[in-house]
Amino acid sequence: MDLTIALDNNSAIPLYQQIYTELRQAILTGRLQPNQQIPSTRWLAKSLGISRSTVSQSYEQLFSEGYLQTKTGSGTFVSEKLPDDLLITQPIKSKYQSTSPQVELSTYGNNVKSANLSITYSDLPISFNYGRPALDRFPLKLWRKLLSRHCESNLDLLDYSLEPRGHQPLREAIASYLSCSRAVQCSPEQVIITSGSQQAINLVTRLFINPGDTIALEEPCYQGARNIFQAQGAKLIPVEVDTSGLIVEQLANISPVKLIYVTPSHQFPTGAVLSLPRRLELLRWAKETGAIIIEDDYDSEYRYSSRPIPALQGLDHHHSVIYMGTFSKVLFPSLRIGYLVVPENLQSIFTRAKWLCDRQSPLIEQQVLTDFINEGHLARHIRKMRNLYNQRRQALVAALKQYLAEKVTILGENAGIHLTITLKTNFSDREAIDRAAQVGVGLTSLSKYYLQAKNQGEFLLGYSELDELQIKEGIRRLALIF
Ligand SMILES: Cc1ncc(COP(=O)(O)O)c(C=O)c1O
Repeated sequence: MDLTIALDNNSAIPLYQQIYTELRQAILTGRLQPNQQIPSTRWLAKSLGISRSTVSQSYEQLFSEGYLQTKTGSGTFVSEKLPDDLLITQPIKSKYQSTSPQVELSTYGNNVKSANLSITYSDLPISFNYGRPALDRFPLKLWRKLLSRHCESNLDLLDYSLEPRGHQPLREAIASYLSCSRAVQCSPEQVIITSGSQQAINLVTRLFINPGDTIALEEPCYQGARNIFQAQGAKLIPVEVDTSGLIVEQLANISPVKLIYVTPSHQFPTGAVLSLPRRLELLRWAKETGAIIIEDDYDSEYRYSSRPIPALQGLDHHHSVIYMGTFSKVLFPSLRIGYLVVPENLQSIFTRAKWLCDRQSPLIEQQVLTDFINEGHLARHIRKMRNLYNQRRQALVAALKQYLAEKVTILGENAGIHLTITLKTNFSDREAIDRAAQVGVGLTSLSKYYLQAKNQGEFLLGYSELDELQIKEGIRRLALIF
Protein backbone atom coordinates (compact mmCIF):
# COMPACT_ATOMS: atom_id res chain seq x y z
CA MET A 1 0.00 0.00 0.00
CA ASP A 2 1.38 3.41 -1.04
CA LEU A 3 0.73 5.20 2.23
CA THR A 4 3.19 7.22 4.22
CA ILE A 5 1.91 9.57 6.86
CA ALA A 6 4.32 12.16 8.20
CA LEU A 7 3.07 13.77 11.39
CA ASP A 8 4.24 17.11 12.70
CA ASN A 9 4.13 17.05 16.48
CA ASN A 10 4.86 20.78 16.69
CA SER A 11 2.02 21.82 14.41
CA ALA A 12 -1.03 23.64 15.75
CA ILE A 13 -3.14 21.22 13.74
CA PRO A 14 -4.28 18.31 15.98
CA LEU A 15 -2.75 14.93 15.12
CA TYR A 16 -6.11 13.31 14.33
CA GLN A 17 -6.75 16.04 11.78
CA GLN A 18 -3.34 15.58 10.19
CA ILE A 19 -4.07 11.86 9.76
CA TYR A 20 -7.54 12.64 8.39
CA THR A 21 -6.08 15.08 5.84
CA GLU A 22 -3.36 12.67 4.71
CA LEU A 23 -5.78 9.78 4.26
CA ARG A 24 -8.36 11.89 2.46
CA GLN A 25 -5.65 13.20 0.18
CA ALA A 26 -4.45 9.65 -0.55
CA ILE A 27 -8.00 8.64 -1.46
CA LEU A 28 -8.64 11.66 -3.67
CA THR A 29 -5.35 11.33 -5.55
CA GLY A 30 -5.88 7.59 -6.15
CA ARG A 31 -3.03 6.36 -3.94
CA LEU A 32 -5.80 4.59 -2.07
CA GLN A 33 -8.28 3.09 -4.52
CA PRO A 34 -12.02 2.48 -4.02
CA ASN A 35 -12.60 -0.81 -2.22
CA GLN A 36 -8.97 -0.96 -1.11
CA GLN A 37 -8.46 -2.08 2.46
CA ILE A 38 -6.75 0.40 4.77
CA PRO A 39 -4.69 -0.37 7.89
CA SER A 40 -6.46 -1.13 11.13
CA THR A 41 -6.45 1.61 13.75
CA ARG A 42 -4.30 -0.56 15.98
CA TRP A 43 -1.65 -1.11 13.27
CA LEU A 44 -1.54 2.53 12.18
CA ALA A 45 -1.38 3.85 15.77
CA LYS A 46 1.52 1.54 16.48
CA SER A 47 3.43 2.42 13.34
CA LEU A 48 2.98 6.16 13.98
CA GLY A 49 3.74 5.87 17.67
CA ILE A 50 0.52 7.54 18.79
CA SER A 51 -2.59 6.48 20.69
CA ARG A 52 -5.18 4.32 18.99
CA SER A 53 -7.99 6.75 19.96
CA THR A 54 -6.32 9.52 17.93
CA VAL A 55 -6.32 7.32 14.83
CA SER A 56 -9.92 6.20 15.55
CA GLN A 57 -11.01 9.84 15.70
CA SER A 58 -9.68 10.52 12.19
CA TYR A 59 -11.22 7.31 10.81
CA GLU A 60 -14.58 8.27 12.31
CA GLN A 61 -14.51 11.55 10.51
CA LEU A 62 -13.72 9.79 7.23
CA PHE A 63 -16.57 7.32 7.89
CA SER A 64 -19.04 10.08 8.59
CA GLU A 65 -18.07 11.93 5.42
CA GLY A 66 -18.41 8.77 3.35
CA TYR A 67 -14.75 8.13 2.42
CA LEU A 68 -14.53 4.85 4.35
CA GLN A 69 -16.80 1.89 4.81
CA THR A 70 -16.58 -1.29 6.87
CA LYS A 71 -17.18 -4.79 5.61
CA THR A 72 -18.29 -6.98 8.46
CA GLY A 73 -15.50 -9.24 9.61
CA SER A 74 -13.07 -8.04 6.93
CA GLY A 75 -11.92 -4.60 8.12
CA THR A 76 -12.01 -1.01 6.85
CA PHE A 77 -12.07 -0.11 3.14
CA VAL A 78 -12.10 2.95 0.93
CA SER A 79 -15.71 3.54 -0.15
CA GLU A 80 -16.76 2.34 -3.55
CA LYS A 81 -18.48 5.64 -4.39
CA LEU A 82 -16.64 8.69 -3.06
CA PRO A 83 -18.54 11.71 -1.69
CA ASP A 84 -16.59 14.10 -3.90
CA ASP A 85 -17.90 12.29 -7.00
CA LEU A 86 -21.42 12.84 -5.78
CA LEU A 87 -20.73 16.53 -5.38
CA ILE A 88 -19.48 17.00 -8.92
CA THR A 89 -22.29 18.14 -11.18
CA GLN A 90 -22.35 17.63 -14.90
CA PRO A 91 -21.22 20.63 -16.90
CA ILE A 92 -24.33 22.50 -17.99
CA LYS A 93 -23.36 22.31 -21.63
CA SER A 94 -23.42 18.54 -21.94
CA LYS A 95 -26.38 18.14 -19.62
CA TYR A 96 -28.69 20.61 -21.30
CA GLN A 97 -27.42 21.06 -24.80
CA SER A 98 -26.91 17.55 -26.00
CA THR A 99 -29.37 15.34 -24.16
CA SER A 100 -32.44 17.26 -23.08
CA PRO A 101 -35.22 17.99 -25.57
CA GLN A 102 -35.58 21.58 -26.78
CA VAL A 103 -37.75 23.62 -24.43
CA GLU A 104 -40.20 25.80 -26.25
CA LEU A 105 -39.55 29.47 -25.52
CA SER A 106 -42.21 32.14 -25.17
CA THR A 107 -42.37 34.91 -27.75
CA TYR A 108 -40.44 37.01 -25.25
CA GLY A 109 -37.91 34.18 -24.81
CA ASN A 110 -37.37 33.97 -28.55
CA ASN A 111 -36.91 37.71 -28.77
CA VAL A 112 -34.39 37.56 -25.92
CA LYS A 113 -32.56 34.76 -27.74
CA SER A 114 -31.99 36.91 -30.79
CA ALA A 115 -31.01 40.09 -28.90
CA ASN A 116 -27.51 41.33 -29.61
CA LEU A 117 -26.04 41.65 -26.12
CA SER A 118 -22.40 41.84 -27.05
CA ILE A 119 -20.66 44.43 -24.92
CA THR A 120 -17.06 44.59 -25.97
CA TYR A 121 -14.24 46.52 -24.43
CA SER A 122 -11.08 46.75 -26.45
CA ASP A 123 -7.97 45.80 -24.49
CA LEU A 124 -5.53 47.41 -26.89
CA PRO A 125 -2.88 49.60 -25.18
CA ILE A 126 -4.80 52.82 -25.91
CA SER A 127 -8.51 52.06 -26.02
CA PHE A 128 -11.05 54.84 -26.34
CA ASN A 129 -13.66 52.64 -24.67
CA TYR A 130 -17.02 53.91 -23.58
CA GLY A 131 -19.03 52.99 -20.54
CA ARG A 132 -16.76 52.81 -17.54
CA PRO A 133 -15.79 55.68 -15.27
CA ALA A 134 -12.18 55.99 -14.04
CA LEU A 135 -12.54 53.19 -11.51
CA ASP A 136 -9.01 53.73 -10.18
CA ARG A 137 -10.14 57.14 -8.83
CA PHE A 138 -13.05 55.79 -6.83
CA PRO A 139 -12.58 56.36 -3.05
CA LEU A 140 -12.67 52.68 -2.16
CA LYS A 141 -11.24 53.14 1.34
CA LEU A 142 -13.99 55.53 2.25
CA TRP A 143 -16.62 53.22 0.75
CA ARG A 144 -15.20 50.35 2.79
CA LYS A 145 -15.41 52.45 5.96
CA LEU A 146 -19.05 53.27 5.33
CA LEU A 147 -19.74 49.66 4.47
CA SER A 148 -18.19 48.32 7.65
CA ARG A 149 -20.12 50.89 9.70
CA HIS A 150 -23.31 49.15 8.58
CA CYS A 151 -22.02 45.62 8.58
CA GLU A 152 -21.30 45.60 12.29
CA SER A 153 -24.65 45.47 14.00
CA ASN A 154 -27.51 46.73 11.89
CA LEU A 155 -29.49 43.53 11.38
CA ASP A 156 -32.41 45.40 9.81
CA LEU A 157 -30.27 45.90 6.74
CA LEU A 158 -30.05 42.14 6.31
CA ASP A 159 -33.79 41.71 6.29
CA TYR A 160 -36.52 41.88 3.66
CA SER A 161 -37.65 45.43 3.28
CA LEU A 162 -41.25 46.53 3.63
CA GLU A 163 -40.58 49.13 0.98
CA PRO A 164 -39.97 47.71 -2.53
CA ARG A 165 -39.47 51.25 -3.86
CA GLY A 166 -36.21 51.42 -1.96
CA HIS A 167 -34.70 52.62 1.29
CA GLN A 168 -36.61 55.74 2.38
CA PRO A 169 -33.50 57.77 3.39
CA LEU A 170 -31.92 57.06 0.00
CA ARG A 171 -35.07 58.10 -1.85
CA GLU A 172 -35.07 61.32 0.18
CA ALA A 173 -31.41 61.97 -0.59
CA ILE A 174 -31.92 61.33 -4.32
CA ALA A 175 -35.03 63.52 -4.49
CA SER A 176 -33.18 66.43 -2.94
CA TYR A 177 -30.06 65.86 -5.07
CA LEU A 178 -32.14 65.81 -8.28
CA SER A 179 -34.11 68.89 -7.42
CA CYS A 180 -30.92 70.88 -6.73
CA SER A 181 -28.76 69.59 -9.55
CA ARG A 182 -31.24 68.75 -12.34
CA ALA A 183 -34.33 70.82 -11.55
CA VAL A 184 -36.30 67.59 -11.32
CA GLN A 185 -39.57 68.13 -9.47
CA CYS A 186 -40.28 65.22 -7.21
CA SER A 187 -41.01 63.98 -3.74
CA PRO A 188 -39.21 60.93 -2.30
CA GLU A 189 -42.45 58.98 -2.85
CA GLN A 190 -41.96 59.28 -6.60
CA VAL A 191 -38.46 57.79 -6.52
CA ILE A 192 -38.10 54.05 -7.18
CA ILE A 193 -34.66 52.53 -6.62
CA THR A 194 -33.78 50.11 -9.41
CA SER A 195 -30.97 47.82 -10.35
CA GLY A 196 -29.39 50.38 -12.68
CA SER A 197 -31.06 52.09 -15.62
CA GLN A 198 -31.37 48.70 -17.23
CA GLN A 199 -34.01 47.56 -14.76
CA ALA A 200 -35.64 50.98 -14.87
CA ILE A 201 -36.13 50.75 -18.65
CA ASN A 202 -37.28 47.16 -18.29
CA LEU A 203 -39.96 48.07 -15.72
CA VAL A 204 -41.31 50.92 -17.82
CA THR A 205 -41.45 48.71 -20.90
CA ARG A 206 -43.20 45.85 -19.17
CA LEU A 207 -45.77 48.14 -17.64
CA PHE A 208 -46.71 50.05 -20.79
CA ILE A 209 -45.79 48.13 -23.91
CA ASN A 210 -47.71 45.31 -25.53
CA PRO A 211 -46.21 43.45 -28.50
CA GLY A 212 -46.87 45.55 -31.60
CA ASP A 213 -47.02 48.90 -29.75
CA THR A 214 -44.94 51.65 -31.28
CA ILE A 215 -41.86 53.02 -29.55
CA ALA A 216 -40.01 55.96 -31.06
CA LEU A 217 -36.33 56.14 -30.35
CA GLU A 218 -33.37 58.24 -31.24
CA GLU A 219 -31.41 57.16 -34.30
CA PRO A 220 -28.71 56.22 -33.30
CA CYS A 221 -29.77 54.89 -29.90
CA TYR A 222 -28.44 53.22 -26.74
CA GLN A 223 -28.46 49.47 -27.40
CA GLY A 224 -29.27 48.53 -23.80
CA ALA A 225 -32.66 50.22 -24.17
CA ARG A 226 -33.31 49.09 -27.74
CA ASN A 227 -32.75 45.45 -26.80
CA ILE A 228 -35.41 45.65 -24.09
CA PHE A 229 -37.93 47.23 -26.47
CA GLN A 230 -37.26 44.60 -29.13
CA ALA A 231 -37.54 41.77 -26.61
CA GLN A 232 -40.95 43.08 -25.61
CA GLY A 233 -42.03 42.86 -29.27
CA ALA A 234 -42.46 46.61 -29.77
CA LYS A 235 -42.47 48.16 -33.21
CA LEU A 236 -39.51 50.53 -33.27
CA ILE A 237 -39.51 53.80 -35.19
CA PRO A 238 -36.16 55.58 -35.41
CA VAL A 239 -36.19 59.37 -35.28
CA GLU A 240 -33.15 61.23 -36.55
CA VAL A 241 -30.80 63.26 -34.39
CA ASP A 242 -28.77 66.32 -35.38
CA THR A 243 -26.46 68.67 -33.47
CA SER A 244 -29.41 69.92 -31.38
CA GLY A 245 -30.54 66.41 -30.47
CA LEU A 246 -33.71 64.63 -31.52
CA ILE A 247 -35.44 66.21 -34.53
CA VAL A 248 -38.74 66.50 -32.76
CA GLU A 249 -40.70 67.66 -35.80
CA GLN A 250 -40.27 64.20 -37.35
CA LEU A 251 -42.58 62.83 -34.67
CA ALA A 252 -45.52 64.51 -36.36
CA ASN A 253 -45.28 61.93 -39.14
CA ILE A 254 -45.54 58.93 -36.83
CA SER A 255 -48.69 57.85 -35.13
CA PRO A 256 -49.66 56.58 -32.72
CA VAL A 257 -46.55 56.45 -30.52
CA LYS A 258 -47.02 54.83 -27.12
CA LEU A 259 -43.60 55.70 -25.76
CA ILE A 260 -40.47 57.57 -26.75
CA TYR A 261 -37.01 56.96 -25.30
CA VAL A 262 -34.66 59.97 -25.23
CA THR A 263 -31.30 61.03 -23.75
CA PRO A 264 -31.72 64.84 -23.79
CA SER A 265 -28.78 65.95 -21.66
CA HIS A 266 -26.20 64.08 -23.74
CA GLN A 267 -27.67 62.12 -26.60
CA PHE A 268 -26.28 58.63 -26.65
CA PRO A 269 -24.10 58.10 -28.59
CA THR A 270 -23.74 61.31 -30.64
CA GLY A 271 -23.36 63.55 -27.58
CA ALA A 272 -25.77 66.21 -28.87
CA VAL A 273 -27.66 68.21 -26.23
CA LEU A 274 -31.40 68.58 -26.85
CA SER A 275 -32.02 72.29 -27.22
CA LEU A 276 -34.55 74.05 -25.01
CA PRO A 277 -36.98 74.84 -27.86
CA ARG A 278 -36.96 71.18 -28.86
CA ARG A 279 -37.52 70.11 -25.27
CA LEU A 280 -40.61 72.29 -25.11
CA GLU A 281 -41.77 71.02 -28.49
CA LEU A 282 -41.31 67.41 -27.37
CA LEU A 283 -43.36 68.02 -24.24
CA ARG A 284 -46.08 69.70 -26.27
CA TRP A 285 -46.19 66.73 -28.64
CA ALA A 286 -46.40 64.27 -25.73
CA LYS A 287 -49.23 66.22 -24.15
CA GLU A 288 -51.18 66.25 -27.41
CA THR A 289 -50.62 62.60 -28.30
CA GLY A 290 -50.60 61.07 -24.81
CA ALA A 291 -47.21 59.44 -25.45
CA ILE A 292 -44.96 58.61 -22.51
CA ILE A 293 -41.44 60.04 -22.57
CA ILE A 294 -38.60 58.09 -20.96
CA GLU A 295 -35.88 60.58 -20.11
CA ASP A 296 -32.60 58.72 -19.55
CA ASP A 297 -30.31 61.21 -17.79
CA TYR A 298 -27.42 58.72 -17.62
CA ASP A 299 -24.38 61.06 -17.39
CA SER A 300 -25.84 64.50 -16.76
CA GLU A 301 -23.44 65.14 -13.85
CA TYR A 302 -20.68 65.85 -16.31
CA ARG A 303 -21.10 69.19 -18.03
CA TYR A 304 -18.05 71.29 -18.78
CA SER A 305 -18.85 74.62 -20.37
CA SER A 306 -22.41 75.78 -20.80
CA ARG A 307 -24.91 75.85 -17.96
CA PRO A 308 -26.93 72.65 -17.70
CA ILE A 309 -30.35 72.71 -19.31
CA PRO A 310 -33.02 71.60 -16.81
CA ALA A 311 -34.22 68.04 -17.11
CA LEU A 312 -37.29 67.54 -19.30
CA GLN A 313 -39.06 66.21 -16.23
CA GLY A 314 -38.76 69.59 -14.51
CA LEU A 315 -40.32 71.34 -17.50
CA ASP A 316 -43.21 68.90 -17.76
CA HIS A 317 -46.60 69.90 -16.31
CA HIS A 318 -48.63 67.02 -17.70
CA HIS A 319 -47.09 63.88 -16.17
CA SER A 320 -45.72 62.80 -19.53
CA VAL A 321 -42.13 62.17 -18.40
CA ILE A 322 -40.69 59.19 -16.58
CA TYR A 323 -37.21 60.26 -15.53
CA MET A 324 -34.32 57.89 -14.82
CA GLY A 325 -30.73 58.10 -13.73
CA THR A 326 -27.94 55.83 -12.61
CA PHE A 327 -24.92 55.75 -10.31
CA SER A 328 -23.03 53.60 -12.82
CA LYS A 329 -21.14 56.56 -14.30
CA VAL A 330 -20.66 58.72 -11.21
CA LEU A 331 -19.70 55.87 -8.87
CA PHE A 332 -19.20 52.42 -10.36
CA PRO A 333 -21.34 50.20 -12.59
CA SER A 334 -21.32 47.03 -10.48
CA LEU A 335 -23.09 48.94 -7.70
CA ARG A 336 -26.23 48.40 -9.81
CA ILE A 337 -28.16 51.27 -8.29
CA GLY A 338 -30.25 53.51 -10.47
CA TYR A 339 -33.56 55.25 -9.98
CA LEU A 340 -36.81 56.16 -11.61
CA VAL A 341 -38.81 59.29 -10.90
CA VAL A 342 -42.38 58.49 -11.84
CA PRO A 343 -45.48 60.70 -11.92
CA GLU A 344 -47.50 60.52 -8.70
CA ASN A 345 -50.32 58.56 -10.29
CA LEU A 346 -47.89 55.78 -11.27
CA GLN A 347 -46.11 55.30 -7.91
CA SER A 348 -48.21 52.39 -6.86
CA ILE A 349 -47.99 50.38 -10.09
CA PHE A 350 -44.20 50.83 -10.26
CA THR A 351 -43.87 49.75 -6.63
CA ARG A 352 -45.80 46.57 -7.41
CA ALA A 353 -43.77 45.90 -10.55
CA LYS A 354 -40.52 46.34 -8.65
CA TRP A 355 -41.75 43.89 -5.99
CA LEU A 356 -42.58 41.31 -8.62
CA CYS A 357 -39.27 41.79 -10.36
CA ASP A 358 -36.87 41.36 -7.44
CA ARG A 359 -38.72 42.44 -4.26
CA GLN A 360 -36.18 45.17 -3.47
CA SER A 361 -32.64 46.32 -4.16
CA PRO A 362 -29.91 45.34 -1.65
CA LEU A 363 -30.28 47.36 1.54
CA ILE A 364 -26.69 47.59 2.77
CA GLU A 365 -25.55 49.24 -0.47
CA GLN A 366 -28.52 51.59 -0.37
CA GLN A 367 -27.62 52.67 3.17
CA VAL A 368 -23.95 53.14 2.29
CA LEU A 369 -24.94 55.23 -0.71
CA THR A 370 -27.26 57.30 1.48
CA ASP A 371 -24.36 58.14 3.78
CA PHE A 372 -22.13 58.82 0.80
CA ILE A 373 -24.62 61.39 -0.48
CA ASN A 374 -25.64 62.92 2.86
CA GLU A 375 -22.10 63.31 4.17
CA GLY A 376 -21.10 65.27 1.07
CA HIS A 377 -18.87 62.62 -0.48
CA LEU A 378 -20.92 62.35 -3.67
CA ALA A 379 -20.75 66.07 -4.38
CA ARG A 380 -17.01 66.04 -3.65
CA HIS A 381 -16.43 62.99 -5.83
CA ILE A 382 -18.40 64.45 -8.73
CA ARG A 383 -16.44 67.70 -8.47
CA LYS A 384 -13.15 65.82 -8.50
CA MET A 385 -14.15 63.60 -11.40
CA ARG A 386 -15.56 66.50 -13.38
CA ASN A 387 -12.16 68.21 -13.16
CA LEU A 388 -10.36 65.02 -14.12
CA TYR A 389 -12.63 64.28 -17.09
CA ASN A 390 -12.51 67.90 -18.14
CA GLN A 391 -8.71 67.72 -18.37
CA ARG A 392 -8.93 64.47 -20.32
CA ARG A 393 -11.61 65.88 -22.58
CA GLN A 394 -9.54 69.00 -23.27
CA ALA A 395 -6.50 66.85 -24.02
CA LEU A 396 -8.57 64.83 -26.49
CA VAL A 397 -10.05 67.85 -28.24
CA ALA A 398 -6.62 69.51 -28.42
CA ALA A 399 -5.02 66.36 -29.85
CA LEU A 400 -7.78 65.96 -32.42
CA LYS A 401 -7.27 69.57 -33.47
CA GLN A 402 -3.50 69.21 -33.54
CA TYR A 403 -3.23 65.93 -35.43
CA LEU A 404 -6.48 65.39 -37.32
CA ALA A 405 -7.90 68.89 -37.77
CA GLU A 406 -8.55 68.46 -41.48
CA LYS A 407 -10.13 65.08 -41.10
CA VAL A 408 -12.50 65.18 -38.12
CA THR A 409 -15.59 66.95 -36.96
CA ILE A 410 -16.16 66.74 -33.21
CA LEU A 411 -19.58 66.43 -31.62
CA GLY A 412 -20.77 66.27 -28.02
CA GLU A 413 -17.53 67.33 -26.38
CA ASN A 414 -19.14 69.57 -23.76
CA ALA A 415 -20.72 66.86 -21.67
CA GLY A 416 -20.42 63.27 -20.50
CA ILE A 417 -17.40 61.01 -20.60
CA HIS A 418 -17.18 60.47 -24.34
CA LEU A 419 -17.43 62.44 -27.54
CA THR A 420 -17.99 61.44 -31.13
CA ILE A 421 -16.10 62.25 -34.28
CA THR A 422 -16.89 62.07 -37.93
CA LEU A 423 -13.73 60.97 -39.66
CA LYS A 424 -13.10 61.72 -43.34
CA THR A 425 -11.52 58.58 -44.69
CA ASN A 426 -11.84 56.19 -47.60
CA PHE A 427 -11.81 53.20 -45.30
CA SER A 428 -14.91 51.36 -44.16
CA ASP A 429 -15.50 51.42 -40.40
CA ARG A 430 -14.28 47.83 -40.14
CA GLU A 431 -11.07 48.66 -41.99
CA ALA A 432 -10.57 51.79 -39.91
CA ILE A 433 -10.96 49.83 -36.67
CA ASP A 434 -8.53 47.17 -37.89
CA ARG A 435 -5.96 49.75 -38.95
CA ALA A 436 -6.27 51.53 -35.60
CA ALA A 437 -5.79 48.21 -33.82
CA GLN A 438 -2.56 47.67 -35.72
CA VAL A 439 -1.14 50.78 -34.04
CA GLY A 440 -2.53 49.71 -30.65
CA VAL A 441 -5.56 52.00 -30.59
CA GLY A 442 -9.10 50.78 -29.83
CA LEU A 443 -11.97 52.53 -31.63
CA THR A 444 -15.75 52.03 -31.56
CA SER A 445 -17.87 52.66 -34.64
CA LEU A 446 -21.26 54.28 -34.15
CA SER A 447 -22.84 52.06 -36.80
CA LYS A 448 -24.00 49.41 -34.31
CA TYR A 449 -26.16 51.98 -32.56
CA TYR A 450 -28.23 52.66 -35.66
CA LEU A 451 -31.42 50.76 -36.30
CA GLN A 452 -31.64 51.57 -40.02
CA ALA A 453 -29.18 54.11 -41.32
CA LYS A 454 -25.63 52.85 -40.92
CA ASN A 455 -23.61 56.01 -41.23
CA GLN A 456 -19.98 55.28 -41.95
CA GLY A 457 -17.03 57.18 -40.53
CA GLU A 458 -18.59 57.99 -37.14
CA PHE A 459 -16.68 56.91 -34.06
CA LEU A 460 -17.21 57.15 -30.34
CA LEU A 461 -14.19 58.16 -28.25
CA GLY A 462 -14.50 57.44 -24.54
CA TYR A 463 -11.82 59.26 -22.56
CA SER A 464 -12.67 58.50 -18.95
CA GLU A 465 -10.09 55.75 -18.49
CA LEU A 466 -7.12 57.25 -20.35
CA ASP A 467 -4.65 59.77 -19.01
CA GLU A 468 -3.68 62.83 -21.00
CA LEU A 469 -0.46 61.35 -22.37
CA GLN A 470 -2.25 58.23 -23.57
CA ILE A 471 -4.95 60.34 -25.19
CA LYS A 472 -2.44 62.49 -27.06
CA GLU A 473 -0.41 59.48 -28.13
CA GLY A 474 -3.53 57.61 -29.28
CA ILE A 475 -4.62 60.45 -31.54
CA ARG A 476 -1.06 60.93 -32.84
CA ARG A 477 -1.04 57.27 -33.85
CA LEU A 478 -4.41 57.61 -35.57
CA ALA A 479 -3.08 60.56 -37.56
CA LEU A 480 -0.34 58.30 -38.94
CA ILE A 481 -2.84 55.91 -40.48
CA PHE A 482 -5.72 58.17 -41.57
C1 LIG B 1 -27.54 55.80 -22.49
C2 LIG B 1 -27.22 54.96 -21.31
N1 LIG B 1 -28.12 54.82 -20.34
C3 LIG B 1 -27.84 54.11 -19.23
C4 LIG B 1 -26.63 53.49 -19.06
C5 LIG B 1 -26.27 52.83 -17.75
O1 LIG B 1 -26.94 51.73 -17.49
P1 LIG B 1 -26.92 51.06 -16.05
O2 LIG B 1 -27.45 52.01 -15.05
O3 LIG B 1 -27.84 49.91 -16.25
O4 LIG B 1 -25.53 50.66 -15.75
C6 LIG B 1 -25.70 53.56 -20.06
C7 LIG B 1 -24.45 52.81 -19.92
O5 LIG B 1 -23.60 52.69 -20.70
C8 LIG B 1 -25.98 54.34 -21.20
O6 LIG B 1 -25.07 54.49 -22.16
